[in-house]
Amino acid sequence: MYPVPVAGSCEFLVTSGSTMAAVEVARQMSEGARNLSLSGHVGFDSMPDQLVNKSVCQGFCFNILCVGETGLGKSTLMDTLFNTRFEGDPAAHNQPGVHIKSNNYELQESNVRLKLSIVNSVGFGDQINKEESYKSIVEFIDAQFEAYLQEELKIKRTLHSYHDSRIHACLYFIAPTGHSLKSLDLVTMKKLDSKVNIIPIIAKADSISKNELQKFKIKIMSELVSNGVQIYQFPTDDETVAEINGTMNAHLPFAVVGSTEEIKIGNKMMKARQYPWGTVQVENENHCDFVKLREMLIRVNMEDLREQTHARHYELYRRCKLEEMGFKDTDPDNKPFSLQETYEAKRNEFLGELQKKEEEMRQMFVMRVKEKESELKEAEKELHDKFDRLKKLHQDEKKKLEDKKKSLDDEINAFKQRKTAAELLQSQAQQSGSQQTLKREKERKNNPWLCTE
Ligand code: GTP
Ligand code: MG
Repeated sequence: MYPVPVAGSCEFLVTSGSTMAAVEVARQMSEGARNLSLSGHVGFDSMPDQLVNKSVCQGFCFNILCVGETGLGKSTLMDTLFNTRFEGDPAAHNQPGVHIKSNNYELQESNVRLKLSIVNSVGFGDQINKEESYKSIVEFIDAQFEAYLQEELKIKRTLHSYHDSRIHACLYFIAPTGHSLKSLDLVTMKKLDSKVNIIPIIAKADSISKNELQKFKIKIMSELVSNGVQIYQFPTDDETVAEINGTMNAHLPFAVVGSTEEIKIGNKMMKARQYPWGTVQVENENHCDFVKLREMLIRVNMEDLREQTHARHYELYRRCKLEEMGFKDTDPDNKPFSLQETYEAKRNEFLGELQKKEEEMRQMFVMRVKEKESELKEAEKELHDKFDRLKKLHQDEKKKLEDKKKSLDDEINAFKQRKTAAELLQSQAQQSGSQQTLKREKERKNNPWLCTE
């Protein structure tokens, strides 16, 4: 049951239905809002001031990614852009791959504080095999989006104090070859264009002649278009900046020169690069596009770059990620699908899968048990057979031995009988012998004339 406000009034209806129904009613209600005129000052016209004050209080953050080959003047340009010297140890260029180095700074101009992150792709283009050069850059950008998404998905979010490390602008430094883009540049920009606002710049533009530079710019733009690389376009929908942004879009890629060296020109100190044949003034629009870049990147479009990062690039990452996780806004019939419904559908799907897995495991277990059982039965049968064989063998052996024993017993008995008979005969013989001796003895006594033999 939801209390639903009735369009154009303060009454509430108590109705039943899903969250989606309540959302739909709220939408209808906002469409049906009536225009009323005020009869006196209320004060909500101070909202823009309130917003400005709050923003100034909170401060701003801006994250720049510099991508470009070693020694193209990335660090020098950053120092020149922000009128400072961002100290940082020079990076080693003998690494096996590209690695990302991020430095955070706090800057203040008037009462506006800026948290600035300068991210460098160290070792970009240094490897012999450059196939994977873009990977660590893409991974870094995604990791920042992921961190923000994780914060957003928390039950207890602290987005107002969260240090947003998402990349707002990628300055892509192109070597001033005067020929065309290298395949490394095209591949890298193509991989990055859906993740970050790319602003291509021709580095060290003082090393290329005016005519060559014009041709080089045209060549670069046509190559970007033919390869479908989307670079950041300065927005022309806000009429206050539409004209300047429109003009500047036609100047892309900016050809820049960087220098922190100040040289006295006339009676003014100016950032310049001095050569035996003359001086290149960094902030002179006839010499290079540095001022145009600073104007577009910092002074006019910094907020749009932040907004585009959130509304376009982060939104795309978030959408893909949530879709990957199974969330969607509409069901298969294209009807709106609330987060709760998605969650329940996903939960049911998960439970179904779990049940299926459980059933599969159970069947597998039963099958295994049956297999084991039949294996055991087989082994038992084999053991029984073996036992029977051994038993029979034992019985045969026993019988043979008994037979042998019987025949031996018979032999012994026969021998005993023969022995007894022999003894009997012997004693009879002895007996008859002694009777004859006695008889002769008697005869001799009776007849002493009988001579003895
Ligand atoms: P790694 O961080 O080592 O990749 O170099 P990097 O791109 O940061 O270049 P860095 O700013 O260190 O400059 C390298 C050299 O180029 C230095 O000697 C700079 O003085 C010089 N340099 C920088 N900007 C320009 C430029 O606009 N024109 C010319 N001609 N030289 C420049
Ligand atoms: Mg550097």
